[in-house]
Amino acid sequence: MQLVSLSKTWPAAAAVISFFLRRNSYSPFSSLSTSPPPLLPQLPTDSAAMAPHPKDDAYLEAVIPKRIKLFEAIQAQQLAHRQSLPSDPIKITLPGGQEKEGKRWVTSPFDIAKDISKSLASSAVIAKVNGDLWDMSRPLEGDCELKLFKFEDDEGRDTFWHSSAHILGQALEVEYGCKLCIGPCTTRGEGFYYDAFYGDLGLNDEHFKDIALAADKAVKGKQPFERIEVTREQALELFSDNQFKVEIINDLPADKTITVYRCGPLVDLCRGPHIPNTSFVKAFACLKASSAYWRGNKDRESLQRVYGISYPDKKSLQLYIQKLEEAKKYDHRLLGTKQELFFCHPLSPGSWFFLPNGTRIYNKLMEFIKNQYRERGYKEVISPNMYNMQLWETSGHAANYKENMFVFEIEKQEFGLKPMNCPGHCLMFQHRVRSYRELPLRLADFGVLHRNEASGALTGLTRVRRFQQDDAHIFCRESQVKDEVKGVLDFIRYTYNIFGFSFDLKLSTMPEKHMGDLATWEKAEAALADALNEFGKPWQINEGDGAFYGPKIDISVSDALNRKYQCATLQLDFQLPQKFELNYSAEGEEGKLERPVMIHRAVLGSVERMFAILLENYKGKWPFWLSPRQAIVCPVSDKSQPYALEVRDRIHQAGYYVDVDTTDRTIQKKVREAQMAQYNYILVVGEEEVKTGQVSLRVRDKVDVTVMTMDNLLQHFKAEVEAFH
Ligand SMILES: *[C@@H]1O[C@H](CO)[C@@H](O)[C@H](O)[C@H]1NC(C)=O
Ligand SMILES: *[C@@H]1O[C@H](CO)[C@@H](O)[C@H](O)[C@H]1NC(C)=O
Ligand SMILES: *[C@@H]1O[C@H](CO)[C@@H](O)[C@H](O)[C@H]1NC(C)=O
Ligand SMILES: [Zn+2]
Ligand SMILES: [Zn+2]
Repeated sequence: MQLVSLSKTWPAAAAVISFFLRRNSYSPFSSLSTSPPPLLPQLPTDSAAMAPHPKDDAYLEAVIPKRIKLFEAIQAQQLAHRQSLPSDPIKITLPGGQEKEGKRWVTSPFDIAKDISKSLASSAVIAKVNGDLWDMSRPLEGDCELKLFKFEDDEGRDTFWHSSAHILGQALEVEYGCKLCIGPCTTRGEGFYYDAFYGDLGLNDEHFKDIALAADKAVKGKQPFERIEVTREQALELFSDNQFKVEIINDLPADKTITVYRCGPLVDLCRGPHIPNTSFVKAFACLKASSAYWRGNKDRESLQRVYGISYPDKKSLQLYIQKLEEAKKYDHRLLGTKQELFFCHPLSPGSWFFLPNGTRIYNKLMEFIKNQYRERGYKEVISPNMYNMQLWETSGHAANYKENMFVFEIEKQEFGLKPMNCPGHCLMFQHRVRSYRELPLRLADFGVLHRNEASGALTGLTRVRRFQQDDAHIFCRESQVKDEVKGVLDFIRYTYNIFGFSFDLKLSTMPEKHMGDLATWEKAEAALADALNEFGKPWQINEGDGAFYGPKIDISVSDALNRKYQCATLQLDFQLPQKFELNYSAEGEEGKLERPVMIHRAVLGSVERMFAILLENYKGKWPFWLSPRQAIVCPVSDKSQPYALEVRDRIHQAGYYVDVDTTDRTIQKKVREAQMAQYNYILVVGEEEVKTGQVSLRVRDKVDVTVMTMDNLLQHFKAEVEAFH
């Protein structure tokens, strides 16, 4: 049932996109609101709107001093209040168990860091106090457990990039007098962005220098990040000149503590926390600009989004830029065209054509999974592509996912193309009476799925309208959940090992809004935790990040370029079985019915997207077992051509993809071209080979040549495929 495994990437993000980890927090019902707003196509660079824009000085002169004055007044009040609080001794426990003394409302994490070492004080960017992230300068409020993080830690890096977005926002506001909107945001991988409203101004690369200069000024100013808490009225007053922030404030729940941060001239609505001051950001760069809509709604204001990246040192930034350039070279759209694997036609945007050589890879991936299904007790099924809307009403998709579905009319009845297989599989389970003996029932389906993505948001094979998944649903008893989950984890490990991916596991637990009773959740979470423990790979917990219908395990993979993706899905579901009133006859008691648990799972995720990831991961050099061009026979001259054809036929009959080059060019030319075309093996046959019945074998990218008999060659091929080389 995973939605977002399709990856929501953005247009014109060519290289950058693949660096962003898209979370797979699929919920058909909530992911919509949290996904990034669909972007407009990039603006033409020669438009008049691109001309340098005079900044809106009047706005700046009116707004910035007013906000700062108000901020300082509230800050002074809060400081006075804090100083009036009792500063009795508190106990601060560090991760090793070591204890430190401090004073309530006085001692800050920064004081503790200084006490430990000078280097820690100058490198710690954020603290965690009793599990909550906490500004380094914010006084502690009682006895606590304290942990400090540097840029090298996930928490540190996120905070670093989030804080850098404030620097970007400050630069944008000062430079252009724009109105900052949603944000500051970190991309879900590397870097950050800020959306703002600029009126008619369209930003492009040519503005980046000025933005970077303004950011540099902020960094040189060593601006501290200062925090205040405000009432709703104060917040509305602070941001009265910015209708976007006003809208955000009005949408906040009534009981929410509203916090505001200042760094330099920028006073911003933000939950925080932040790095201590801007001087930590030693390297800063803008990556790209694109358009976005306010709240992702195309009927609302058109905004500009600027992406940036930052590091605590210049060297890391250089490495990052190099990595981007490298990634650009191996963009799957580029390689896919070069290798004639796939293309897209304007007459069907977002639905890709796979050419013969591309289809070989696509099918190999599915065949690999199908072989595993045989090993692992899955049953493959085929289910319809379109269903009467009644099905989607039962499943909840009509109410919550309809705008992402293709809906049409047949004989005056509304139908929808399936965006996922799960409801159809529920019909299959329901189709007849079920017994506990049949469980676990693992139904696998490569069915074609369609999701209505906006045309402007379509990107290569990573964001498409038509795709297939290695989707399966496991219907099982509650007591079987643990073993089933372990089985899926093992499947994922097996597959990703072969691809050369490493992966991380996180358990996402019950969110605030959820269905089902607490006891069921606790049991399910415990089963998942048990499965994870028995699986043996270290894992983390993502408190409250489960889908509302069940807990899940988030799997993030890293490819050869160390880019992170979310491909696999492993999600428990109590909801669909209930909506479809699924049941099976229970063990023991005659006539007693029980409700199965449903597990949504996919290993590859979208085959289209996995195809793209693998293509980039291998930099276009497919391993032999997946390769659409496994071998080519190159006769040295006309004389060896009949033998070359014989060799080709034998390899073809043995089940491998082999071509023969019968042109009358020199052998050097043939070999060079075959290398460029990424054939794994180049078989050169001349008079000598004809005589001995052998082949001269060249492995792609290697210079040495081995002479082999045909039998040995085929044996070698077989071994290579079996080892997934
Ligand atoms: C900025 O933070 C660093 C490290 O915490 C500290 O050493 C430095 O004094 C701070 N500078 C200012 C101006 O606050
Ligand atoms: C695969 O690509 C090669 C050239 O790289 C081409 O000669 C061959 O015909 C293609 N295979 C198919 C089945 O089209
Ligand atoms: C149990 O499942 C059967 C078969 O799908 C269905 O006919 C029946 O209504 C279900 N019973 C309950 C109590 O949900
Ligand atoms: Zn599903
Ligand atoms: Zn912030």
